[in-house]
Amino acid sequence: MNTSTQQQKIVLVTGGSSGIGKSIALHAASRGIGVILTYNSHPAQGLAVADTINSNGGKAVALPLDASNTGSLNDFASQVLAILKKEWNRDNFDYLVNNAGIAQRSLIKDTTEEIFDQLVNVNFKGPFFLTQKMMPLIIDGGQIINISSGLARFAFPGVAVYGALKAATEGLTRYFAKEYAGRKIRVNAVAPGAIDTEFGGGKGDESHRQQIAAMTALGRLGEAGDVGAFVASLLSEDSRFVNAQRIEVSGGIMI
Ligand SMILES: NC(=O)c1ccc[n+]([C@@H]2O[C@H](COP(=O)([O-])OP(=O)(O)OC[C@H]3O[C@@H](n4cnc5c(N)ncnc54)[C@H](OP(=O)(O)O)[C@@H]3O)[C@@H](O)[C@H]2O)c1
Repeated sequence: MNTSTQQQKIVLVTGGSSGIGKSIALHAASRGIGVILTYNSHPAQGLAVADTINSNGGKAVALPLDASNTGSLNDFASQVLAILKKEWNRDNFDYLVNNAGIAQRSLIKDTTEEIFDQLVNVNFKGPFFLTQKMMPLIIDGGQIINISSGLARFAFPGVAVYGALKAATEGLTRYFAKEYAGRKIRVNAVAPGAIDTEFGGGKGDESHRQQIAAMTALGRLGEAGDVGAFVASLLSEDSRFVNAQRIEVSGGIMI
């Protein structure tokens, strides 16, 4: 709980305009954390999430970010710094959640370089360089959470590049934890299972949804809130000795 004598913690959530990122932003705010969230192609949705938080007594700012445009990241870092100073009178923040991502279904035989590059740029290259640029703004002892996927652990046809990039994200999580250990920055990966969002065009028709549910020990698809509540719960001292880990939030899919 934030009090007047305690500095408010601040999280930057990429892809906070919908689905899991929106839920992370809302749950973090309900725990008293200040939120900077980003949107890409849906500005109105991103601004609406910030409005919801602000009208419920929290504090949030929404900023545009195209993670695939690494050339824009210096400007983005300047904008984040300006917001931190203006809204929180700080020049750093506590938590980064790399959540923004895209899926593009394509069998290996049909995967073009264009599809491949787009997936790499948004899901891997973007978060790598964004995190690199944000590091000077993250406090010592802060935390980074990279959103991975169950598809880093098991394989389905049509998501080879996406799944492999999420596996790479989990590898990178350990490397960031290693290189920033001197600053006591913890870096973990949270891997959602099949979550009922608009991601990749949604989870399909009822029979497909039932198939997914049947593969899941808890017998249902996940909801954005299943992941959002968990990620927000990690943003505290309660997780202070959890570092360089992959944590799956999937209801036990494909076990
Ligand atoms: N849903 C699932 O089943 C599932 C399972 C495992 C992992 N995940 C992971 O969870 C994360 C969130 O997915 P979701 O299900 O919440 O999907 P979603 O509802 O489609 O949300 C994706 C978010 O990413 C943002 N985004 C897309 N392209 C971007 C870009 N180039 N630069 C910056 N932001 C961009 C979107 O912003 P705009 O809408 O404003 O463009 C949106 O806020 C992703 O990393 C995904 O890989 C999802």
